[in-house]
Amino acid sequence: MRTPVFELHIRPMFRATDREHMRWALDLWDYDDVVAQADDILDRLEQDMPPVSGGGLWPEEWIAVFRRWKDGARKRLELGTASYVLTRTATRVDLTATGTFPAAGYEGWLQLESETDTSKTYVLHLEAPDTPEAGTPPAFSVVESYRATDTRRVFVHDSTGVQEIV
Ligand code: HEM
Repeated sequence: MRTPVFELHIRPMFRATDREHMRWALDLWDYDDVVAQADDILDRLEQDMPPVSGGGLWPEEWIAVFRRWKDGARKRLELGTASYVLTRTATRVDLTATGTFPAAGYEGWLQLESETDTSKTYVLHLEAPDTPEAGTPPAFSVVESYRATDTRRVFVHDSTGVQEIV
């Protein structure tokens, strides 16, 4: 069964409005805050959060995913490091990240993290295997492509910070 991962399966269940309303107590989009209060969060999800006046309780399946994450490895993603190339052709733009995984068994991908009218920022995510794997860390090359009509500036967020790719 797929191991739940904070950035992929837990954080997206918390809406911006949940985050804003709960800011006085914790940041629901922050891994460390959610880990620190995971038991209390589960209690409230099972009882009265989010309140009916603000959308109401989660479906039981969502609560089960949160419970499985809390009672399991509380897995999260890592940020990778790579070299980046942006290639613009007549029809499409390719953003390519090339590097080496930290260890065998890792997966990695580029994912749109945020966008404005003039820019888009991708994040280079790495996911460790559930159990360590022996072997040489493999090289990777991952590509994100989109239509050439999208001429916005491109930034990448990775373990070194945020950089513009030109
Ligand atoms: C540590 C666990 C939590 C505690 C102790 C807690 C407690 C509270 C309290 C005291 C309020 C204000 C009073 C009220 O509206 O009932 C509140 C509001 C709210 N909480 Fe939580 N909460 C927790 C977790 C959560 C979670 C996990 C979510 C979302 C998934 C959430 C979503 C909200 C929302 C949307 C409001 C505003 C409701 C409104 O104004 O209509 N809370 N919470």
